[in-house]
Amino acid sequence: MRESDYVPGLENVIASETSISYLDVENEQIIIRGYDLMELARQAGYLEVAGLLLDGSLPGVDEKEALEERLKAEYGMNDAIYRLLALLPKDANMMDVLRTGISSLSSYDPELDDRSREANRRKAVRLLAKVPQLCANGYRIVTGHEPLAPRADLPYSAGFLYLLTGREPSELEARLFDQSLIAYSEHEMPNSTFAARVIASTHSDVYGALSGGVASLKGTLHGGANEAVMDMLLEAETEAGMETLVRSKLAAKERIMGFGHRVYMKKPDPRALLMKEALAELSAERGDDRLLRMCVVGETIVASEKKLFPNLDYYAAPVYHLLGIPTPLFTPVFFAARTAGLCAHVMEQHENNRLFRPRVRYTGPRGLRVGRGAERE
Ligand code: ACO
Repeated sequence: MRESDYVPGLENVIASETSISYLDVENEQIIIRGYDLMELARQAGYLEVAGLLLDGSLPGVDEKEALEERLKAEYGMNDAIYRLLALLPKDANMMDVLRTGISSLSSYDPELDDRSREANRRKAVRLLAKVPQLCANGYRIVTGHEPLAPRADLPYSAGFLYLLTGREPSELEARLFDQSLIAYSEHEMPNSTFAARVIASTHSDVYGALSGGVASLKGTLHGGANEAVMDMLLEAETEAGMETLVRSKLAAKERIMGFGHRVYMKKPDPRALLMKEALAELSAERGDDRLLRMCVVGETIVASEKKLFPNLDYYAAPVYHLLGIPTPLFTPVFFAARTAGLCAHVMEQHENNRLFRPRVRYTGPRGLRVGRGAERE
């Protein structure tokens, strides 16, 4: 390996082999185990996609039912975890709360150090059952409210949305939320997935790998962007406000949250188009398309000034707002949706492992001696 091979940010470097997903940017497709993510979002449900990610094939009716049953059996939460979260301050960042919750789950898992596919698969189901509760009830507990009991009588996504809002969602709300979870479910090798795989490659456990994933996803260059988009929309208030705000940010050379992507710089993010449709549907149902019109203003300006496309976060944010999800939970919801994908990556890494241990191009000094500064060398 030559030092000239150094690529900052590993841009376009192939870091792993995987059969889980691939961004076929040229053909504007996100391939998930052979299927187009957009087709999955329109024709399958989140739990089926989770099964596909974990097992490699779309579950049939019986397999889906079995997965639902196993999830319900894992809905319980050790009380000690909620007591631990209650110790956190009221203004704690919800991604930090989620990271603490996921990290603490590890101490209660009897199969923690078993890296076999079967044990990792069972841990993935536990995480799929508990992460939505950690997101929603973590927020409730930290802000001084009682946790809600999960609703085993509701389908998975509808039950998750119930926990987030405290009310049973309509059919349309449940369907669009489910679609958003699929849109967020898996995306090849973003920073958080890479972080999780790097951690798993030391034979560390799935909870540790996912805790690292939460830390990565928190940043505004990654998952944290959906909350930043909502803050921007709330600040702008109107189409005119959006135009002023976006233009002033561009003039100040600030980044507009929800635009640009390391992989989709020259092509649109198909997931953003899906969520734009969801926003249009929800706006029509509510009889209020203000947020949609504001988003279109921002999209038009950024396209003409910077030639950048919106990413998934840009349109997911107003959809989540209209669904009644509190803004501090937007990024935790993104993570919850990514749970199945991340678990699949950890399983794949454990089964076909090569420790990640790259080298550096050293730019520091050499030859310093203890007690003698560099200037005296
Ligand atoms: N607003 C304004 N300009 C931007 C933006 C943006 N959101 N994104 C990229 N650019 C510009 C850069 O300033 C740069 O322009 P220049 O060449 O004139 O200096 C050019 O586009 C290339 O940008 P890079 O920083 O090299 O692109 P990189 O691949 O490192 O960044 C990233 C990708 C981090 C996502 C970036 O587009 C960004 O900061 N976007 C805003 C945050 C965001 O939306 N994140 C969500 C990512 S998607 C997801 O997690 C679902």
